[in-house]
Amino acid sequence: MALLEVEDLRVSFGETRAVDGVDFQVDEGQVVGLVGESGCGKSVTSLAIMGLLPRRAASVAGAARYDGVDLFSLPRGEMRRLRGPDLAMVFQDPLSSLNPVVQIGRQITEVLERHRGMRGEAARKEAVHLLDRVGIPDPARRLGEYPHQLSGGMRQRVLIAISVACAPRLLIADEPTTALDVTIQAQILELLKDLVDSEGTALLMITHDLGVVAGLCDEVNVLYSGRVVESAPARDLFARPTHPYTVGLLNSIPRLDLPIHEPLRPIRGSIADVIGWNDGCAFAPRCDRVAEECVAGEPPLIGAAHMHRCVRAEEVA
Ligand SMILES: Nc1ncnc2c1ncn2[C@@H]1O[C@H](COP(=O)(O)OP(=O)(O)OP(=O)(O)O)[C@@H](O)[C@H]1O
Ligand SMILES: [Mg+2]
Repeated sequence: MALLEVEDLRVSFGETRAVDGVDFQVDEGQVVGLVGESGCGKSVTSLAIMGLLPRRAASVAGAARYDGVDLFSLPRGEMRRLRGPDLAMVFQDPLSSLNPVVQIGRQITEVLERHRGMRGEAARKEAVHLLDRVGIPDPARRLGEYPHQLSGGMRQRVLIAISVACAPRLLIADEPTTALDVTIQAQILELLKDLVDSEGTALLMITHDLGVVAGLCDEVNVLYSGRVVESAPARDLFARPTHPYTVGLLNSIPRLDLPIHEPLRPIRGSIADVIGWNDGCAFAPRCDRVAEECVAGEPPLIGAAHMHRCVRAEEVA
């Protein structure tokens, strides 16, 4: 049994379907990537797992089991107890998840006190150490500052430090390195790797950066319009992408090994506002290989270790 099992997750906001039947698993000590372009449902998936979607606006169906426990039927109080020591999340928007009127040192030591039983000087030292590990210069001085005194990238790193301080069994990181320059990004990825290797943390990594995926993930799920369109071990996905959308994502990355005048090949069009899986493949309007059979019916997710949702996958590969 995997530590986290997400099964047929569906989330809608009124008439709008944001997530439309997503399945994946994360094992202890494993890094699983969730990739896809803006609006495909990555954040909504993670917020649903954490029980943090607004209850009135969002209707959530399917299951998310943590250590065998169905999170969606857990009473609120028990869910709150799990957050921190069991489930932690680095949010995409760092300013709204830090408390603006509490010094950042206090925000970190609070977690260390509550979840790791540290007190006083020991907690303060650990907070300095954590800020140092996420690459914040002069960490001892920064402890006394408020979130608004930090740059966006620094706030992101403080959030990562807080998540690491919890030493959670499952960490969901939603675009944790998007706002950071590459040297800091490398340092953060190293830190996350460390956490996974030394603590056996299960890491769900949400990103649209395929470089991050290549450097960190064991398994990857490619999301398109609220559904998984390809799922495979990271190596296999890069070596043999089988869904035209994945191929498109890989082709859109600038490459140093190609001649400079070689044009990038972006995927034409953009993700639709409405989930389009009812009349065949939702990617069909943007796909160069579209055929009659693509819009004849919903393409199923097929395969075992390397799964895809494309009726023409053999030709693509
Ligand atoms: N609170 C909400 N109310 C209504 N619709 C929402 C809400 N939150 C998200 N959505 C919709 O759900 C869809 C998926 O959004 P989500 O935030 O999961 O995208 P994402 O994959 O995380 O994109 P990005 O890469 O830009 O962060 C979008 O169409 C979005 O407009
Ligand atoms: Mg998002």
